[in-house]
Amino acid sequence: MLYGLTRPLIFRMDAEQAHRLTILALKYLPKRPVPTFAACLGQDVAGLHFPSPIGLAAGFDKNGEVPDAMLGLGFGFVEIGTVTPMPQEGNEKPRLFRLTEDRAVINRMGFNNDGQDMVRGRVSFRDHRRGIMGVNIGANKDSEDRIGDYRRGVVSMSPYADYLTVNISSPNTPGLRQLQSPKALKELLKLVRETRGERGPPIFLKVAPDLAEDDPARIARVALASKIDGIIVSNTTIERPEGLRSAHAQETGGLSGRPLKAKALEALRAFAAATKGKIPLIAAGGIETVDDVWDRMRSGASLVQLYSALVYEGPGLAMRLNGQLAKRLEDEGIANIADIVGADL
Ligand SMILES: Cc1cc2nc3c(=O)[nH]c(=O)nc-3n(C[C@H](O)[C@H](O)[C@H](O)COP(=O)(O)O)c2cc1C
Repeated sequence: MLYGLTRPLIFRMDAEQAHRLTILALKYLPKRPVPTFAACLGQDVAGLHFPSPIGLAAGFDKNGEVPDAMLGLGFGFVEIGTVTPMPQEGNEKPRLFRLTEDRAVINRMGFNNDGQDMVRGRVSFRDHRRGIMGVNIGANKDSEDRIGDYRRGVVSMSPYADYLTVNISSPNTPGLRQLQSPKALKELLKLVRETRGERGPPIFLKVAPDLAEDDPARIARVALASKIDGIIVSNTTIERPEGLRSAHAQETGGLSGRPLKAKALEALRAFAAATKGKIPLIAAGGIETVDDVWDRMRSGASLVQLYSALVYEGPGLAMRLNGQLAKRLEDEGIANIADIVGADL
């Protein structure tokens, strides 16, 4: 309601400035207490207890400034990052575009972030009891040892992360997605797993939706062999589906939001078929309604994440989805959210 009134003002601002203002407001306004979640929404995934399956995707809070404020808005978990070893400016501005008519976003931010030392310092004070905070790690653009950058991310962030996400799927760091090829992926995941050791946080792998037909099976095979704890499907797409109406539709970068929905769901189904329940899947891409959450979970996702829909729906979205999801479970006589995971497979 309130967001409906302020949205026109926010949308008149440059998208990145509006985002910065949002982060500052979340950072300095009093934090809400963490809401009480309906018990039917809680489940254990990868050894962690998630009070709701609805999470905040990476990229919203790249620098770990507001994880606790976002948990207060009703997210069951929050993923900060992508964080790289060294601080990085990212690409030239403008690099973030709203595609309002398409309920979408295009970004070519290029991993702008404060670097792992600064982010670690910031989140080291937080109270972990407030909720689950994952840390998404990546490589610096000018790094000569990209795989080594992930190792540094694991060493630096493990003590503060409830889980780590290995992000090899951003389209905005040239060459990064090549780490999804089986040989490079095997080397990367082996190193990451060894560095984490037996007692570190669970590790998720985040993949792109732009995959060749046999990529999901190949990536899944490596992920399973490397004993990775989950796969996030997916990041933004470099493709531009037909029918986009917004003036910014042909900007370079990763497309997210509603036009990514069908593609991300298709990629999720391919990973579900390839992994057969042996590894938890986390769905992202165009999730905006309770039907989207329901479809992804029935298609094999244990958890979901969203970002772009927040831009259009405002800060009450996670709470609204929690309420609708709990009601749907009750209406259908289903005791717990875990019972619908993979029901369509
Ligand atoms: C502005 C913006 C920045 C993003 N930055 C990152 C990032 O740093 N790391 C990452 O793994 N994903 C990043 N993403 C991708 C999101 O985490 C998510 O996978 C993608 O946007 C699809 O979800 P959505 O359609 O709900 O936005 C970013 C997305 C947007 C819109």
